Amino acid sequence: MEKKRVCVTGAGGFVASWVVKLLLSNGYIVHGTVRKLGDQKYAHLNKLERAPANLKLFKADLLDYDSLRLAIAGCAGVIHVACPVPASALTNPEVEMLEPAIKGTLNVLKACSEAKVKRTVYISSIAAVMMNPKWPKDRVMDETCWSDKEYCRATEIWYYLAKTEAERAAFEYGKQHQLDVVAVNPGYVFGPVLQPTLNTSSLLLVNFLKGIYIQTEPANLSLANVIIGEADSVPNMCWNIVDVRDVAAAVLLAYEESKAEGRYICVAENIMTDYLVKKLRNLYPDLSYSENFIESKYAYRLSSEKLQKLGWTHRLLEETLLDSIESYREVAVLD
Ligand SMILES: NC(=O)c1ccc[n+]([C@@H]2O[C@H](COP(=O)([O-])OP(=O)(O)OC[C@H]3O[C@@H](n4cnc5c(N)ncnc54)[C@H](OP(=O)(O)O)[C@@H]3O)[C@@H](O)[C@H]2O)c1
Repeated sequence: MEKKRVCVTGAGGFVASWVVKLLLSNGYIVHGTVRKLGDQKYAHLNKLERAPANLKLFKADLLDYDSLRLAIAGCAGVIHVACPVPASALTNPEVEMLEPAIKGTLNVLKACSEAKVKRTVYISSIAAVMMNPKWPKDRVMDETCWSDKEYCRATEIWYYLAKTEAERAAFEYGKQHQLDVVAVNPGYVFGPVLQPTLNTSSLLLVNFLKGIYIQTEPANLSLANVIIGEADSVPNMCWNIVDVRDVAAAVLLAYEESKAEGRYICVAENIMTDYLVKKLRNLYPDLSYSENFIESKYAYRLSSEKLQKLGWTHRLLEETLLDSIESYREVAVLD
């Protein structure tokens, strides 16, 4: 067993690409899973520094146990990132969202058990934290807060339900099989994109910058359930933002730090829409911004104190916004 061999599921995605990049630069040998070997959408991975010698891609699907088993065999650790993050309404939530998230996670964990990996880091989300109507409105959310599964199901917030069920299942599986499972729960992840296609959270910011705002009351808001359109008024909600490079750093910390346990909220800044617009206007005065904000009861603030105590630091929001926008301009999705 090599100490520094780690598998990253869904390696070609937005978050995972940065995780792979960081692992490679830290001397790890990486097994990355992708759904279609040789597809151009994963070409950026092979161009990463040290990739030619240290990155091996495996074809794997979350619902195909054997494919995961082959990718994870021989690894000391697994970073489970793969999960659908749909940008539009789902026609069959069970098949499109819940199955790959929950059964997929259990398949990954089973393969981890079989390979006797030392630690599995599961990329959850604040979606598994924040949809809890019983949490006192003015209290900052921490890791003790879990999204209410029944509430998510009743309100059909499928992404939130899937991430909540998957994270709970991951910890339960870990307990039953003596597998060391740590979760990282990022907020809205922005920052420069490495992959050639836009993922859902980047698309959300691109649309925001184009003046296409979220129109729904955030009861229905999720990265997977965004209804956007040309809006006259914009809900003044709280954006719990974190830079993708800082998520990758949190993942590495959660993997390497022996003291790490349980779940870690990973949010750098809780910022209301009107302040976000103010910051963006300072950086990019020429873009058009809404002036009209309507009150929203969704103003959850989340704390990353636990992660910070583990040693995590993050960059300033201005840097994240600047680097995101420059990156969108490079791939010509923003003028
Ligand atoms: N971006 C955010 O704001 C955010 C916030 C909190 C948590 N997260 C979590 O971070 C993770 C990555 O999200 P992301 O933003 O990087 O999204 P992304 O770019 O869409 O990445 C998702 C990855 O999952 C893979 N995948 C989906 N279904 C799969 C299946 N059935 N089998 C194998 N692979 C599958 C995709 O593979 P293909 O490339 O083949 O489609 C893709 O590589 C997810 O677990 C998400 O819940 C993201």
